[in-house]
Amino acid sequence: MDLVTLAQRPDVPVYGIPYPPDSPRFMEGSLASLLVRGRRVARLWPHLVVALLDGGEPVARGVMVPFRGRGSLPARGWDEVAVWAAEDALDGVAPDTACALEIAVHPEHQARGHSSVVLEAMREAVAAAGLASLVIPVRPPDKAAVPHVPMGDYALSTRPDGLPVDRWLRTHVRAGGRLEGVAPCSATVQAPLADWRRWTGLPFDRDGAVVVPGALVPVLVSVTQDFAVYVEPNIWVSHPVAGVPRA
Ligand SMILES: CC(C)(COP(=O)(O)OP(=O)(O)OC[C@H]1O[C@@H](n2cnc3c(N)ncnc32)[C@H](O)[C@@H]1OP(=O)(O)O)[C@@H](O)C(=O)NCCC(=O)NCCS
Repeated sequence: MDLVTLAQRPDVPVYGIPYPPDSPRFMEGSLASLLVRGRRVARLWPHLVVALLDGGEPVARGVMVPFRGRGSLPARGWDEVAVWAAEDALDGVAPDTACALEIAVHPEHQARGHSSVVLEAMREAVAAAGLASLVIPVRPPDKAAVPHVPMGDYALSTRPDGLPVDRWLRTHVRAGGRLEGVAPCSATVQAPLADWRRWTGLPFDRDGAVVVPGALVPVLVSVTQDFAVYVEPNIWVSHPVAGVPRA
């Protein structure tokens, strides 16, 4: 196994790693994600894109963007950091923080601890970039099984051993991550009902809150106005960076 950044190995097809087939398709409707699309991040911040190679083939990636901290972590989590990173790049503002926007493990290589290895490599890449902190708006996937439970309650649910019930939050805590709070409106998708029907196969024929497979909270639907809005809460997690005392 080898760990590289795209700055070291620009030839690695890191974005070729697919998502699992059951991943929610509706996230492709995220507008903010267009600002930080793969090609752009790879061009602007190749030192913040980490790949784990197995026999030379990429099996996991970790993607970060840099930004200048603006006080507290934003309630509009993932979306707001995507905007801040783009704004700071446009305005020439020097960053002091890295935010992980994505960690993905090839579906055929999951459940082998690769994500922890990538997390560690991300922390090293952040230290090497001279950035003072690493934060992540974590999307706890198992929350989709309990869409009506408030995210704050879910994040604090622990097993008898004290670790989070959610497997992905658990991985972050084991790796030294600290839960900093809920980002209640972190990732948003607003789209006409035709898009939602195409993404989900559901009818979207009544107003109100609709439970959609893979969604962490219900999707809010207006048949009258022909749109639905998904407002995904995430959990802000901070990770230690080598050589930097924790706040
Ligand atoms: C979330 C993800 C990065 C985890 O990576 P991974 O390397 O497979 O995770 P690990 O091997 O470290 O396993 C972490 C925990 O999840 C569990 N797990 C992993 N895959 C699982 C699966 N398919 N079903 C149930 N549990 C699973 C592991 O058993 C482990 O639990 P433990 O704490 O009881 O040991 C990976 O599943 C993934 O790429 N998902 C799609 C993209 C995504 O959702 N990324 C996160 C948001 S950006």
